[in-house]
Amino acid sequence: MFADMVLEDVKICLAGSIVRAGLAIEGERIARIAKETNLPRASKKIDLGGCLVLPGIIDAHVHLRDQGLEYKEDFFTGTCAAASGGITTVLDMPNNDPITMSVDSLRRRAEIAARKSIVNVAFYSAFPKNLEEMKDIVEWGAKGFKLFLSKQIGGVDPGDDEALLRSFKRAAALNVPVLIHAEDKEFLESKFEELKKKGCSDAAAFLEVHSVYSEIKAIKRVVKLSQMSGAQIHICHTSAGQSLNFIASAKRAGINVTCEVTPHHLLLSSRELELQGHIALTNPPLRSKRDQELLWLNLDKGIVDIIASDHAPHALCEKRRDSIWEVAPGFPGLETMIPLMLTQVNKGRLTLSKLIQLTSKRPAEIFKIEERGSLEEGCFADFIVVDMKEEWKIDSSRFHSKAKFSPFDGQTVKGRVVKTFVNGRLVMDSDEIVGKPGEGKIIR
Ligand code: DOR
Ligand code: ZN
Repeated sequence: MFADMVLEDVKICLAGSIVRAGLAIEGERIARIAKETNLPRASKKIDLGGCLVLPGIIDAHVHLRDQGLEYKEDFFTGTCAAASGGITTVLDMPNNDPITMSVDSLRRRAEIAARKSIVNVAFYSAFPKNLEEMKDIVEWGAKGFKLFLSKQIGGVDPGDDEALLRSFKRAAALNVPVLIHAEDKEFLESKFEELKKKGCSDAAAFLEVHSVYSEIKAIKRVVKLSQMSGAQIHICHTSAGQSLNFIASAKRAGINVTCEVTPHHLLLSSRELELQGHIALTNPPLRSKRDQELLWLNLDKGIVDIIASDHAPHALCEKRRDSIWEVAPGFPGLETMIPLMLTQVNKGRLTLSKLIQLTSKRPAEIFKIEERGSLEEGCFADFIVVDMKEEWKIDSSRFHSKAKFSPFDGQTVKGRVVKTFVNGRLVMDSDEIVGKPGEGKIIR
């Protein structure tokens, strides 16, 4: 055997322990993982000097925008941000302009993504108006249906239980997950009216509207719908301890539910709204210190299935609105997620193998991203090289994302992604993008 590339002197995480090995890459795939003496010869050799190699990260919650929202982000800038942050596959959310909710809209989006992306991209759809179309959407290759319970995005009214049950039943029959933004529309709207009438527009009012109560109400509702329909549900960006308690009991009852947390809900509290203002505004919002602790506790207990970034880029002027009700919620996360989590590994708060589980292995399983998400012979060669010792400061002005702000700006982190390989090719090297637009694949 003669490989295209051999990576020598690397450390990899195998069954929970770190071992020294070498990797041989042939075409787009990992041909062999073995001691150096057992590796094939290759036309290209890279000595990684004992650096750690991890499977490429699969970020299951990303808003890449483009099309009508290109001013916020596009497939090139967004996937450059991903490559820079060690993410080799992103799953793109459907709240776009136009909304992704038909085979036609998926096709158009994929066509643009195929030209511009340097990491792999897969797509979610919103529910179409005509539920018959769900079959075609799944056959095209969408990885799930995203349901915003906070407002209608797509063809189904989130207030209509019967319509939701019909769509969940179809999702179950088609064997694809329904992803949930768990905030209750009815509660949000009535609380908002009440507080607006009183003239409230501070952070406290925002938190009262986007409350833990609203999240739990929404989760209870979809758990019930999952139970009635058999649909697999995935709760996005779970932000409160009580929500996880409820998800844990649903799991124990055998309901087909998985859940996600974000680095910002794990690492920041609502105090950031006072300290940083609207930059730190996101939905669901940052919660209390106690919630943060409970998120970690549930992560340790294995209740949390995955960590995802919820990369939600906006133009800075959309964050700087005077009224809190007008502020665009969300901030970029692709370039901070892995450095922040590696920092937690360095602090001993989480093991490396658990991090791999949460950011590569489980997302691949839940969303059926085949032959990716683990370092195994025969799998696609999506992997990252990490320097666990480098200490550096997050500087959002240097982001590849168009959104050059972050609530983590200025924080010191320990651990850096130094190289990113996608489909056997080097796309990011020492923070320089060396991949070409179009090298990322559309995963269907
Ligand atoms: O903060 C958020 N931003 N929450 C959402 O649900 C949507 C997202 C976005 O698209 O900006
Ligand atoms: Zn989101």
